Amino acid sequence: MNQDELKRAAARSAIAYVGTGQVVGVGSGSTVNFFIEQLAAIRERIAGAVSSSQRSSELLAASAIPVLDLNEVIAAGTPLPLYVDGADEINDKLQMIKGGGGALTREKIVAEACERFVCIVDGSKLVDTLGRFPLPVEVIPMARSQVAARLREIGASPVQRPGFVTDNGNLILDAAGLTIVDAPALEAEINQWPGVVTVGLFARRGADIALIARPEGIETRFAH
Ligand code: 5RP
Repeated sequence: MNQDELKRAAARSAIAYVGTGQVVGVGSGSTVNFFIEQLAAIRERIAGAVSSSQRSSELLAASAIPVLDLNEVIAAGTPLPLYVDGADEINDKLQMIKGGGGALTREKIVAEACERFVCIVDGSKLVDTLGRFPLPVEVIPMARSQVAARLREIGASPVQRPGFVTDNGNLILDAAGLTIVDAPALEAEINQWPGVVTVGLFARRGADIALIARPEGIETRFAH
């Protein structure tokens, strides 16, 4: 099986977590694109989706799945039992690095709003220690150099993602070279630097369930 087939298999396995009549939180990225394909096949069974990126919203709309505004969903008191998203790296505590697609801020917002985070990945995303994948940090443009300097102070080598502007009009610094031992602490630390919008560490609110696709089948892991 190639990587796309594994991503598709992980996405397919997440459909079992979608309940009838629910609003589904939908992440971003190529694995989630396969999930949206699968969701389209059961669109009559769901009330709609809350999306974490322009790209996912476009794909959902193209699949005739209603894209709902998170503020309206929350104001109406509608439950959000499920969020499905991919990851760039995930460890055995189900803490993740996300933001390879640059949608980390909205992903973190929707993940926070939902009760259960189901992460869909192929086996290559599983790591012992987070940090091999450069850590994405979304920054307000005027804070770019200041935040880059602080990232260098903690041992990272940040580079601005070339030609990329987020859905929120900001920049991404990709911080390579970190060995992340205490992910919740690093997430809290970077998050409070002025000019940082979101750091792509999803540790304080990690995944609840990981569906990991390998050629031999899907492994389900639970947060502990
Ligand atoms: C986007 C993300 C994605 O979940 C992450 O980059 C994984 O993407 P893919 O499914 O394409 O491997 O965080 O911001």
